[in-house]
Amino acid sequence: MSNVAVIGMQWGDEGKGKITDLLTPAFDIVARYQGGHNAGHTIYVDGRKVILHLIPSGVLHSGKLCLMGNGMVINPEAFLQEKKALEEIGIDIQDNILISPNAHLILPYHTEIESLREEQSDLKIGTTCRGIGPAYVDKADRLGIKVGDLLNPELLRTKIEHNVREKNVLLAHYGKEPLEAEPIVRQFSEYAEQLRPYIRDVSFFLDNAFREGRPVLYEGAQGALLDVDHGTYPFVTSSNSTAGGICSGLGIGPDKLDAVLGVCKAYTTRVGEGPFPTEAFDQWGEYLRDHGQEYGSTTGRPRRCGWLDAVQLAYACRLNGVKRIILTKPDVLDGLEEIKVCVDYTYKGETLPSFPMESWVLEKAEPRYRTVKGWGTGVAGQSAWDDLPQGFRDYVKLIEDLLEVKVAIISTGVGRRDTILMEDHLRGLVDLSRLDPAAA
Ligand code: GDP
Ligand code: IMO
Ligand code: MG
Repeated sequence: MSNVAVIGMQWGDEGKGKITDLLTPAFDIVARYQGGHNAGHTIYVDGRKVILHLIPSGVLHSGKLCLMGNGMVINPEAFLQEKKALEEIGIDIQDNILISPNAHLILPYHTEIESLREEQSDLKIGTTCRGIGPAYVDKADRLGIKVGDLLNPELLRTKIEHNVREKNVLLAHYGKEPLEAEPIVRQFSEYAEQLRPYIRDVSFFLDNAFREGRPVLYEGAQGALLDVDHGTYPFVTSSNSTAGGICSGLGIGPDKLDAVLGVCKAYTTRVGEGPFPTEAFDQWGEYLRDHGQEYGSTTGRPRRCGWLDAVQLAYACRLNGVKRIILTKPDVLDGLEEIKVCVDYTYKGETLPSFPMESWVLEKAEPRYRTVKGWGTGVAGQSAWDDLPQGFRDYVKLIEDLLEVKVAIISTGVGRRDTILMEDHLRGLVDLSRLDPAAA
């Protein structure tokens, strides 16, 4: 029995949702440990598109438990909307979702303050404006309101009143009318009743699951380069999206993580502001956006696109202890005559030894590319290694050599069937007999 993580290796949107959904049958529990409804995880089942923001991507499989850990920030309205959308497609989450009482709540003032700051300040991050950052600020400031506080009406009222008084000072700074506490208290008292059935000690629940030998799949949101400590700060999200966040975000020990599978798109995308060394400003950026349908799953914004970056990925491997990569969307490169891969950066004429920590260096770092010949077509929709074009197999080998990893899964399209499992690299980690390769 192994407990395995699926996490993003770039700036998010690598295809974590598809991969988590695909691997779920081999696990009993799927757990998210950070972030909130800034995430947008897309899954196609029977040709139908489902986008999950808060609820773990295991939810489409019946009989699987989906946990939302203390490291997450929860907007109750977003949760209830997602629950309703799932019910509309015949998925009842009543008995299989657990939310940690230690997860923090996103309140209306968080969203409002973030939008005002993004509009008015000089430092625009390009956030999803979902109130994620301000909710984590309150958590660190010990002012945060936790999911568990919903179950204590007096405490809930006191905390909302206190917070509204403080936030009104900030709102006035942005030239806004003050908020009233009472409607928020009323609204959140209603949410309390709707969320009550799901609130449960996730850490304790997991401890029992581990004792029973039930395997757990940890699902990351965002990506390594959006991690608040290790990403391209300040152009990051406000949580630890790297594997380090798993233990703190679920209340488990490091011995409960056996391997990290790093999800990596065959090229690079980014939404929002911030440095992106391999961004393609020429026709190839647009080509990748068009062919990869690179538009945000949460905000619909066009994603910035560029070439694969081995310097950035080597850094992400180091941060996450990744030895196995899941390569997604190589089918988007089908038909290209040439494909570029960044192999190192130069800065002021010198080759940098690794991904630079300082944003002012990264902004000026110049990628040096290795250009490989395209493989023609033939990757899209494949489900067997032997059927892949030789040029693409060489591309996989190049990635393995540059990053000193193995490519354990190749995704060749949006559907569950469009997948190649490299069994030798998954054996012992994922119970392959529980996966159904014929599933739609
Ligand atoms: P996530 O946030 O990491 O779950 O990724 P998103 O869902 O935001 O974005 C990934 C997009 O790529 C989604 O629209 C997926 O349906 C799609 N996708 C995933 N894997 C593949 C693949 O192998 N090929 C193609 N063409 N699309 C894919
Ligand atoms: P998934 O899980 C891509 C980006 C935003 C912005 C920065 C901060 O779908 O991969 P935030 O709202 O988190 O404070 O925004 O992080 N961002 C994402 N980009 N995929 C995501 O999630 C993202 N979640 C946040 O665009 O640049
Ligand atoms: Mg996404």
